[in-house]
Amino acid sequence: MAEIILTGDRPTGKLHLGHYVGSLKQRVLLQNSGKYDEIFIMIADAQALTDNADNPEKIRTNILEVALDYLSVGIDPDKSNILIQSQIPALTELSFYYMNLVTVARLQRNPTVKSEVELRGFNTNVPVGFFAYPISQAADITAFKATVVPAGEDQEPMIEQTREIVRKFNQIYGDVLVEPKILLSDNKACKRLPGTDGKAKMSKSLGNGIYISDSADTVKQKVMSMYTDPDHIRVEDPGKIEGNTVFTYLDAFCIPEDFPEFLPDYSCLDELKDHYKKGGLGDVKIKKFLINVLERELSPIRAKRSEYEKDIAGVYDILKTGTARAREVADNTLSEAKDAMKINYFEDNALIKSQEMLYNN
Ligand code: TRP
Repeated sequence: MAEIILTGDRPTGKLHLGHYVGSLKQRVLLQNSGKYDEIFIMIADAQALTDNADNPEKIRTNILEVALDYLSVGIDPDKSNILIQSQIPALTELSFYYMNLVTVARLQRNPTVKSEVELRGFNTNVPVGFFAYPISQAADITAFKATVVPAGEDQEPMIEQTREIVRKFNQIYGDVLVEPKILLSDNKACKRLPGTDGKAKMSKSLGNGIYISDSADTVKQKVMSMYTDPDHIRVEDPGKIEGNTVFTYLDAFCIPEDFPEFLPDYSCLDELKDHYKKGGLGDVKIKKFLINVLERELSPIRAKRSEYEKDIAGVYDILKTGTARAREVADNTLSEAKDAMKINYFEDNALIKSQEMLYNN
């Protein structure tokens, strides 16, 4: 069976380091592994509109930002199709039929929807489209017959819901859809990178995010103000690693080569942690190290981004090409699904014949 990747992001803002270590970095590795038959990376603007109906301009402008983020981290348009969700009508059509396979109660139980409803303070005023977005996400995934969805931990309930829809569809109408599995990052720190304030999730409204496209100065500033261990007041004080954002970021970003390069007094991260725990290692030193580590990772990305920024029309061409290919594949799945559901009246010659027989004999 073909191995196909589909994944995506809502274009509600620039992508941050949580996106980067939680999913983008892995996508690039998978892309370059040569193990996949086809890769689709979706800019999920229609999903973003489910809770931004009154602000289409925000979504519209962020499509380019997300595309630039993708390209700058190494998504290669020769190897991966980058597509815009709203430009693929088959996805809406599939969603409409999948709605009949999911109960309201099941959607209400979806933990991601639950926590997002709370986060947005919707209370009882949840837009129907937002409430049902797991169904539309199932359409995103199944339209491409994706087998693998590299995504963050928060997407697990979405994949589970997709799998249920696939099983139900196939059981009723016959084998058309493919059950996907999620591919999580295996680094614990990467799965849930906290904001610079140590809070669980990076978000624009909390102002605690570091963005892939942030300048070197901005990154430096944000790291210098990062939350560490509030009880680690003097350098001599013993410090805590657990919940210390600087160390969580080091867990996510640091590679062995960073020590000889930037901090030759230590041989590895464990040694640095031990010293911090014992006392005698100041926050400024570990923050400066983290800045170097992040710059090692981000400066080539920044350079690549500035190249693409010089050719915005070229970036839109990339999106257009990726979207055209995606449309072809999704149309194909839709037509298979409609055949299986027997809602293909004009393509089904046997239908007219059998009804003719019924009436004329
Ligand atoms: N829900 C995802 C997010 O909030 C975005 C998304 C839309 C997605 N469609 C998808 C992710 C399909 C994986 C697969 O980031």
